[in-house]
Amino acid sequence: MFSGGQQADTARWSMPGELAALRWFDPSGWPLGPLGGTGPMVYLPPLIQRENVMALAPPGAGKTRAVLVPALLSERLQPPADRRSLVIVDPEGELYKLTGRELSRTHKIVVWNPAKPQMCNAAFDPFAYIPAWNKPGYVGACEHAAMVWLAATTEGAEGGTRRAGDPYWEKQPANVLKALLLAWGIRPLSATGAARELGDKSTKALLADITESGVDAARMRAKVVEDLMLNERAAGNVFSDLRERFMLLGNPTVAGTMQGKSVDFAAIVAQPTAVFVQVSTAALYLQPLLSVFIGTAVGELLKLTSSGRPLAREVRFIVDELGNLGRIYDLAGALATLRKNGIGFLMATQTRSRLADRYGLQGAKSIMGTCGTVLALGGLSVDDATWVSRQLGTHVRTVYKTTVSMPSFGLHVDQQKDTAPLRTADAIRAMNLRMVVLPTRLRPFETAVRIYTG
Ligand SMILES: Nc1ncnc2c1ncn2[C@@H]1O[C@H](COP(=O)(O)OP(=O)(O)O)[C@@H](O)[C@H]1O
Ligand SMILES: [Mg+2]
Repeated sequence: MFSGGQQADTARWSMPGELAALRWFDPSGWPLGPLGGTGPMVYLPPLIQRENVMALAPPGAGKTRAVLVPALLSERLQPPADRRSLVIVDPEGELYKLTGRELSRTHKIVVWNPAKPQMCNAAFDPFAYIPAWNKPGYVGACEHAAMVWLAATTEGAEGGTRRAGDPYWEKQPANVLKALLLAWGIRPLSATGAARELGDKSTKALLADITESGVDAARMRAKVVEDLMLNERAAGNVFSDLRERFMLLGNPTVAGTMQGKSVDFAAIVAQPTAVFVQVSTAALYLQPLLSVFIGTAVGELLKLTSSGRPLAREVRFIVDELGNLGRIYDLAGALATLRKNGIGFLMATQTRSRLADRYGLQGAKSIMGTCGTVLALGGLSVDDATWVSRQLGTHVRTVYKTTVSMPSFGLHVDQQKDTAPLRTADAIRAMNLRMVVLPTRLRPFETAVRIYTG
């Protein structure tokens, strides 16, 4: 098509020279695969990593073994001064099995698995990061901890207990939990301690904790909570909702993995560390803890950058099966802010619609929007393949039509312009051991997919 004498859409694939100019052949990046199947190896450059990457593909396409594992293994090759720390969401322990031993040569290995204490070499308690009540940042930390816990235990989050999007259920438990955390801070409580208080104490006694608290910020919230108490039934509902949200901590195995020294995020920045967080997607009741872990990690890393300085060491979050995990509090916000500070996310999900189940349509869109690069492997859903095809755009092609004009018996060749998708959705779905890379600041390209088999 032409408009104003210019071609409206001239989508095309990247040329090797264009990739070279932006350092996509530089082996300091994460390996993707040979360009076009037989060309030079393509690597995802460090600067592009910081703009976040999403691998999109159905099970078995190679998200774990062709994208995440090679990226993790390549982290060992960084020069010592540039080594990054890694926060790895490894739902089934697959990434640890395939990379843990290798990474241990260059990185301190930390494992937390709330279902398998024998796997853990660190504890994790989200409330351990709240500073003393008379220290700066106390109020913000309590509020953040409350929001992270609530987001993780809200339905839509797998294993959550409440519907998302209902303002009543979103707001009242938040008010009460923030007030409780603020009040309890005077004698710091662990998450399991908080669960015990909620389980053992009457609603009245919990309210008294808030109204009689020695912490000003808690008492300031007491009015809101007291007003809520005027409606006895509503108040009862809110407190039983909160009790339910902490119930999983009644499990002694889980509680055991939260006691002891919690993962130290400042230490992770200080020395190259690989933290594996293992919560099986099948363990629905544990999903909230995974979301809480990420929410807390993001909060702690942001604290370390709050003076406007980038982190002393870059960090990569490697998140497998994002769409099957519980909802992570303010993930889109974290993705957008953290990249300024030397933190990048490499995520994998089966479909965009799984993300929409968790984060809502708008949330899923903004998560995808914060990913500078999308890796689309074969076998996508119709919906995702159509989306990728549309991202690739259409190119103009010239169609020649030959006509024979009868009166003069002359042969007439007619040139017409026509547009066609760079690659149709069908062709994208049919790809096998191939990936289409939709990069930032560069035209798309294709590589072969190489499955790591150990
Ligand atoms: N040890 C192995 N040797 C060879 N192929 C394997 C091995 N383990 C898994 N595969 C194959 O690798 C492919 C990619 O698997 P995987 O990376 O786990 O996909 P995804 O993470 O997208 O679900 C699968 O089709 C699987 O059959
Ligand atoms: Mg996988």
